[in-house]
Amino acid sequence: METKNKLLEVKDLSIHYFTDEGVVRAVNNIDFELARGETMGLVGETGAGKTTTARGIMGLVPNPPGRVVSGEILFEGKDLLNASKLQMRLHRGKDFSMIFQDPMTSLNPILTVGDQIAEVIRLHEKLSHKDANRKAAEILEMVGIPAERMSEYPHQFSGGMKQRVVIAIALACSPKLIIADEPTTALDVTIQAQVLELMRDLQEKLGTAMLLITHDLGVVADTCNKVAIMYAGQIVEMGSLENVYDNTKHPYTKGLFGSLPSLSIKSKRLVPIDGLMPDPVDLPSGCPFHPRCPDCMESCKSRMPVKTEVSPGHYVRCLRCE
Ligand SMILES: Nc1ncnc2c1ncn2[C@@H]1O[C@H](COP(=O)(O)OP(=O)(O)O)[C@@H](O)[C@H]1O
Ligand SMILES: [Mg+2]
Repeated sequence: METKNKLLEVKDLSIHYFTDEGVVRAVNNIDFELARGETMGLVGETGAGKTTTARGIMGLVPNPPGRVVSGEILFEGKDLLNASKLQMRLHRGKDFSMIFQDPMTSLNPILTVGDQIAEVIRLHEKLSHKDANRKAAEILEMVGIPAERMSEYPHQFSGGMKQRVVIAIALACSPKLIIADEPTTALDVTIQAQVLELMRDLQEKLGTAMLLITHDLGVVADTCNKVAIMYAGQIVEMGSLENVYDNTKHPYTKGLFGSLPSLSIKSKRLVPIDGLMPDPVDLPSGCPFHPRCPDCMESCKSRMPVKTEVSPGHYVRCLRCE
């Protein structure tokens, strides 16, 4: 991949929370890259560190207790971890924006949806009130909400419509990257499909890169170019859909797919795996997956696997692949 096409580079990133109960090792030494317009699915069980990763990129890790303890995040080659608060505020919305799981936490209940979209536009673009409002109306229409509803408040919208408003706000300044953190989990199943289709259409139309955090391997298959599987704060397997779905290497990924991994199986939700995710305050020695791993070897209990490229662009962290 040529440097100029690299949009986001995450290198050796670790984010920990320093709590009274101990150090929560939420994200541990993860690496990935996104090119312009590329979409990556980030998949893993609850507690794997997905939201912390997303917040890390956005510069929104709550501190205290959270802190980036190692690594680099580059956006168009610019170092985000050493950017000032003001620079990060200017990046957010304009260069990258995030869609959170629950639309209510991202909407202001006392502002009309039109004003909320226009506010983001005016923060980043020198537009008059009138022009910002006109642009807000266009964006609302783009997400399938009639412009007449500009003057309504969030509570007047259904859950699916609220999430469309959140998407409109995220896209208002045409960011280069959208991070969508389980964007449809809080919605009814029928509405989920509509919102995902909308996101997919807009992503394609606008050429926005996307990091899509989800539990649904079928959604990743429909939406993404590549996928990263997270376990106990690490990326244990990453690659193109073909790599990870049809040539699955890591025992954890195999477990997620059940016995028959295939791109042709749609809407495959995560299959529960025996045992529990380890407590990130007290991670097991060696490979963090070893206590649950059906293929565990003696050395897995003491040695941490390193990231290994098993075929071009297909990375696995498993001693059996080294
Ligand atoms: N503000 C916080 N303080 C302490 N621990 C946290 C905080 N936020 C998240 N964690 C912990 O970090 C780990 C990863 O959480 P998270 O990134 O939310 O995972 P995911 O999004 O994959 O469910 C979990 O063990 C979670 O309890
Ligand atoms: Mg989460």
